[in-house]
Amino acid sequence: MEQTQNDNKKIVLSGIRSTGNLHLGNYYGALSKFVRMQDDYDCRFFIADLHALTTHPDPRTLHENVKDILAEYLAAGLDPEKNIIYVQSDVPEISEMYLLMNMHVGIGELMRTASFKDKARKALGINSDSDDIEKDIIGNQTNQRVNAGLLTYPTLMACDILIHKADFVPVGKDQEQHLELTRRFASRFNNFYKTDYFGKPVNFNFGGDAVKVPGLDGSGKMGKSEGNCIYLIDDEKTLRKKVMRAVTDEGPKTPGQPVSQPVENLFTLMDLVSGKETTDQYRAAYADCSIRYGDMKKQLAEDILKVTLPIRERILDIRSNEEYLSKVVRRGAEQARAYAADTLRDVREIMGIRRI
Ligand code: ADP
Ligand code: TRP
Repeated sequence: MEQTQNDNKKIVLSGIRSTGNLHLGNYYGALSKFVRMQDDYDCRFFIADLHALTTHPDPRTLHENVKDILAEYLAAGLDPEKNIIYVQSDVPEISEMYLLMNMHVGIGELMRTASFKDKARKALGINSDSDDIEKDIIGNQTNQRVNAGLLTYPTLMACDILIHKADFVPVGKDQEQHLELTRRFASRFNNFYKTDYFGKPVNFNFGGDAVKVPGLDGSGKMGKSEGNCIYLIDDEKTLRKKVMRAVTDEGPKTPGQPVSQPVENLFTLMDLVSGKETTDQYRAAYADCSIRYGDMKKQLAEDILKVTLPIRERILDIRSNEEYLSKVVRRGAEQARAYAADTLRDVREIMGIRRI
């Protein structure tokens, strides 16, 4: 199988689930970092279609979503000549490693993972923050929406990362607990088999803190399931409308008054797309009570469009060329499988799974 030249560069691995179009949170939290890293690192980026199965997508939609994300990766500037770009399910070695790794993962630690509790709560329709979710799940034995795949999601993610022996994993802030678990599973494996086989992969954000892009609805993060997203594929009219409707407040009444969360969210978005200088002007206008939210939103929409419209054009173009999409991931799968097969062979050997 084909292997690309490594040149002793640090290895970068990341992926995004194929659960819908990519939004500004995905872009600033993950994809734009992928693009910035591609020249300096040995990068491998994939589409996590197996992870998407945990929420039982419609099979046809899932397949289309994989192509959407791939087109969005390429449109944002990921170059298949510089990176290995593949679909997770095209690399069966990951699934086998997932089975092996699960033998070293505790059900208790998985049940305590924040993302599992969140998703289980949603699936069971429980709103409370109570930590008794374990009891609810065990008591609700027939609810297959809280499935074992959801529970073992972190094991699969750890295998995605460890099978490439990745050094850096560029992801948004919400994924840091999963990365922590990856390191824990890796060192547990090392300790158990008295080896130093796996390293300790870490997040990467060009020296800054991990990014959390807020939504337009005044609270929390931008996320597909929150329904508060600006998508890279949004057309101009849709995007302007979304920004103009963003939640604010009645405006500052006294100079220097603290900024409310919804307005702070708009400043955070503005920082990302317009730059600090522009944001500072609006912050100053807020401080002396001269700010007009309508003007600020117009500016914000304008600056978001400058980022997203060129990407949107390319998405539409690339997405319609299925032959090209297929060529990219076939080659990517070949390359990824070569690395994955090496790791899996070693892991099997270390664990004593050997041919008679
Ligand atoms: P979603 O939360 O919309 O379902 P995913 O979980 O598929 O998105 O996330 C894919 C990548 O995008 C991950 O690296 C995640 O950390 C990042 N990401 C998603 N939403 C945000 C956000 N609002 N801010 C920063 N990063 C984000
Ligand atoms: N869990 C990640 C998310 O929801 C997607 C993902 C799966 C991933 N495997 C990964 C990210 C490996 C980085 C590395 O966004």
